[in-house]
Amino acid sequence: MSENKSIDTAVADALKHVQDGMVLGLGSGRAATTLVRSIGKKISKEGLTIEGVPTSLQIRLVAEEVGIRLVEPGEVSKIDIVFDGADQIDEDNYLVKGGGGALLKENILASMAKLIIIIADETKFAKKISMPIPIEVQPAARNFVIKHIREKNGIPQVRKQERGYPIFTENGNIMLDCDFGVIQNPLDLAAGLRQVPGILEVGIFNRPHKIYKVNKN
Ligand code: A5P
Repeated sequence: MSENKSIDTAVADALKHVQDGMVLGLGSGRAATTLVRSIGKKISKEGLTIEGVPTSLQIRLVAEEVGIRLVEPGEVSKIDIVFDGADQIDEDNYLVKGGGGALLKENILASMAKLIIIIADETKFAKKISMPIPIEVQPAARNFVIKHIREKNGIPQVRKQERGYPIFTENGNIMLDCDFGVIQNPLDLAAGLRQVPGILEVGIFNRPHKIYKVNKN
């Protein structure tokens, strides 16, 4: 099956869960972009009343382009479904997220959602989580946080643009990409990190309800 066909099939299947009147969480990144474009088409084709909650300006722009009515997380009391991508998925279906820096809102929405659906290409799947973990940090706390990460045997790197400037998230924070090697207990690591003042979000997410694995080009 070609990649396009596979992703089309996955998206079509994922969107079967969408019903009139739902509030949808819109994740960020390429997979989320494909999903949001298809949600826009479905809304206009079927005349649905749907509200979308964007997790970033990146996906807000896509959603606006395809005419999805948007609301902020604070304006809704529930999210029916979150559609999102992932950076790495381990054999227990724990996720690494935050490659695009949108992890804070992504995790808020995931925590509010009744159903979380992830689409990721086959290269994202691994036995254990082993990629550097994105961590959003209040800039003033960076040295304090870096010390804690090193004490936990992590190697932190401030995420930077090509020309060396630090990348700021939409919340005005910096990102540390932290190499912990192969992670045996991702939830324990995440829970420990979340205790450190100045860490605003850790890119290790709990298991979603449904994951679609699609072929890479
Ligand atoms: C955004 O911060 C991330 O969590 C994305 O959801 C993740 O990086 C997956 O993005 P792609 O679908 O673009 O690979």
